[in-house]
Amino acid sequence: MFAASTAQKLGTVFAIALTVGWLLFMLAHVKRGAVKPGDEILEAPNRKPYYEDDILEGPKLERALTLALVLLVIIGIGLPLYWINETRRENGAKKLFANTAVEVGFALFQPADSPLPANPKLNELHFGCAGCHGNAGQGGSTNYTITTPLGTTQSVSWQVPALNTALLKYTPDTVRTIIVYGRSNTPMPAWGLAGGGPMNDSQIDSLVAYLQSIQITPAAAMKEGESVGTNGSAIFNAYCARCHTKGYSYGAPETSGAGAYAPNLTNGSELRQFPNLVDQIDYVTKGATYGKSYGTRGIGSMAADPRLDIETPGAAQQGGGMPKFDQVLTPEQIQAVVNYERGL
Ligand code: HEC
Ligand code: HEC
Repeated sequence: MFAASTAQKLGTVFAIALTVGWLLFMLAHVKRGAVKPGDEILEAPNRKPYYEDDILEGPKLERALTLALVLLVIIGIGLPLYWINETRRENGAKKLFANTAVEVGFALFQPADSPLPANPKLNELHFGCAGCHGNAGQGGSTNYTITTPLGTTQSVSWQVPALNTALLKYTPDTVRTIIVYGRSNTPMPAWGLAGGGPMNDSQIDSLVAYLQSIQITPAAAMKEGESVGTNGSAIFNAYCARCHTKGYSYGAPETSGAGAYAPNLTNGSELRQFPNLVDQIDYVTKGATYGKSYGTRGIGSMAADPRLDIETPGAAQQGGGMPKFDQVLTPEQIQAVVNYERGL
C-alpha cells in the first residue's frame, strides 16, 4: 500500500465531499421536481415582485457598491503585493532547482560501488566519475589498455585530470560536450546518449552543475600553479603535455614529439602557425572557439555544444578543444610556456 501524501489525503476528502454533496443536491431537486403545467407562472422567480425602489436604491445599492470597493482594494493592493514577492518566489524556485541539480550531479559522480547510498529522494544511480577523477574531483589515475604501434596491447596507468578547474578553462557547453562524447583514444568514455553513453541531457546538465559547485577560484588555481614556477618546460609538462605529447599521460612520452589528443607542437610548427608571438600568447590565454580561425592556418575544430548541429561528428571533434588558461596561469607563466613551445 502506498503512503498517501497530505495533498492526496486532502484531495480524497474533497472529492468525497463533492460527490456526496452533488448526489444530495440532485436527490433534493428530483424530489421537488414534480411540476405541473402552469406552475411556472407562480413559481418562476422573475414572476415574483422584486424589491421596492427605495430598497433597491438604498441598502441594496450600497451593499453592491461596498462589495465592489472591497474587490477593487483586493485587486489594487493584492496584485501588486503578489508581484512584489514574485521575483523572490522565482529566485527561490531557481535556487531550489540549482541545488537539486548539484545534488543529483553529486550522486551521479560517485563511484559505482560507492558505500554512500544513492540518495533515495533523488533516486539516482552512481556513474563512477569519482572512480577515475577522485572523490572530490581532485584527479587520479586509472588502468587502461593501449594498442602499441606494433599492434600489441599494453596495460598502462593513465593520469586522470582534476576537474575542480575544468570550468575555469572551458565554458559549461564545452564541459557538457566532453562529458557527452568523451575523448576517443583516452580512458574518458562517452556518457551522453548522443555519444552512445547511458545519460540523458538532464543528467549531463546536473553533472555540469555539480562540477560548477566544486570549482576553486581563479586566485586559488593560480596559487596552486605557483609551485610549478615560471620554467616553460615545467609549465608545459604540468598543464599542456597530457594533450600535446603522445604517451605523456601514461609515463611514456614520445620523443618524436607526436601530439596526443591535440596537435604536435614541435619542429617550429608554432613559429609558422603564429609568426607573431603576441598572437600565440593571446591564443593560449583565450583558448580556441569552434569554427573560429586562429594563427595562419588554424581553425577551432572542436565543437563546444552537443546540441549544435554538426554535419559529420568525428569522435575527436567532440572532446572539447584547446582550453583557455587566463584563469589558471599568470601572464608570466603563459609567456614562459609560449616561449618554450616556440623553441620545440
Ligand atoms: C575510466 C576513467 C574515467 C571515468 C569513469 C570518467 N573519466 Fe573523465 N576523464 C578521464 C581521463 C583519463 C580524462 C583525460 C583524457 C585525456 O587524457 O585527454 C578525462 C577527462 C574529463 C574531462 C575533461 C577535463 C580536462 O581538463 O581535459 C571532463 C570534464 C571529465 N573527464 C568529466 C567526467 C565525468 C563527469 C565523468 C562521469 C560521468 C567522468 N569524467 C568519468 C577518465 C575518466
Ligand atoms: C585538454 C587538452 C589540451 C590541453 C591541456 C592543452 N591544449 Fe593546446 N590544444 C588542444 C587542442 C585540442 C588543440 C587544437 C585546437 C583546435 O583544433 O581547435 C590545441 C591547440 C594548441 C595550439 C595551436 C596549435 C596549432 O598549431 O594549431 C597551441 C599553441 C596550444 N594548443 C598550446 C597549449 C598550451 C601552451 C597549453 C598548456 C598551457 C595547452 N595547449 C594545453 C588541447 C589542449
